Amino acid sequence: MIKIKNKYKYALIQYPKKQSISYKILNEYFKIMNFDCEYFDLSLSKDIFERYIAKILNKSEGLNITVPYKEKIIDYIDPDQDVKNIKACNLVYKNKGYNTDWIGFYETIKDFDFKDKNILILGAGGAAKAIIYALYKKGIKNIDLINRTYSNSCILKEDMKQFIDINTYKKEKINEIILKNNFLINCTSVGMYDQRFEFNYNLLSKYSFIYDIVYKDTELIKYANNKKINNKNGFDMWKNQAIENLKIWKIYDNKFEGVIKCLKT
Ligand code: ATR
Repeated sequence: MIKIKNKYKYALIQYPKKQSISYKILNEYFKIMNFDCEYFDLSLSKDIFERYIAKILNKSEGLNITVPYKEKIIDYIDPDQDVKNIKACNLVYKNKGYNTDWIGFYETIKDFDFKDKNILILGAGGAAKAIIYALYKKGIKNIDLINRTYSNSCILKEDMKQFIDINTYKKEKINEIILKNNFLINCTSVGMYDQRFEFNYNLLSKYSFIYDIVYKDTELIKYANNKKINNKNGFDMWKNQAIENLKIWKIYDNKFEGVIKCLKT
């Protein structure tokens, strides 16, 4: 039986405050499990983060870390090897840092056959790094990548160069690069708030798979569904990493899956 007494043990750290699927689901889970605590959504500006993060780490047991602090938090915690490799941390347990984003994604692709698949990644943020690391763990040696800001692609390429070969291209080349690949992974937040990419989606008509890591059906996924292209949104990735997080925090119970099902329907 898991007993949680301290009210202030668990929180999400982000800035600015954004819609979070974890906030609603974890609080519901805590209620069902009769934990005497809440999952807090701590939106910390840069100044406040720097002033208070050591204190928050000291008082808390489990933290989820998201944009823009996944890299900054590493200065304050003891990172595990995956965090050191990816240079991003999305989970803290008792001052130890983990990256469960890559595991969440890896779990969804571990049985895929990537033979004859040429992968194009869109995006070069923290999520892209975790996805690329998972692809490396799956044995992928080479990918193409396009990001809105080219300099961010170059930083990511340098960060990941010991694991995987990344060909980076400027966004002006997007049409040509889409046509030379056949497996798309969108790692940007485009679609999260119903925006769409500027390129013509019909360029993707021959793709064998379209993966969008946004946890709901975006315009890209709707396009794939319309064209009967195999596809996946980011919900399972989110679910897998959430389960992994609860396991690391040592508060996982299979009632969690029930909470997810209830809130989804
Ligand atoms: P995360 O940790 O979720 O990856 P992030 O580090 O803020 O979040 O990265 C978001 C990614 O989405 C980046 O690749 C970003 O592109 P920039 O490097 O140019 O900022 C990309 N992105 C966000 N909004 C976008 C938009 N409207 N069009 C294209 N790319 C966008």
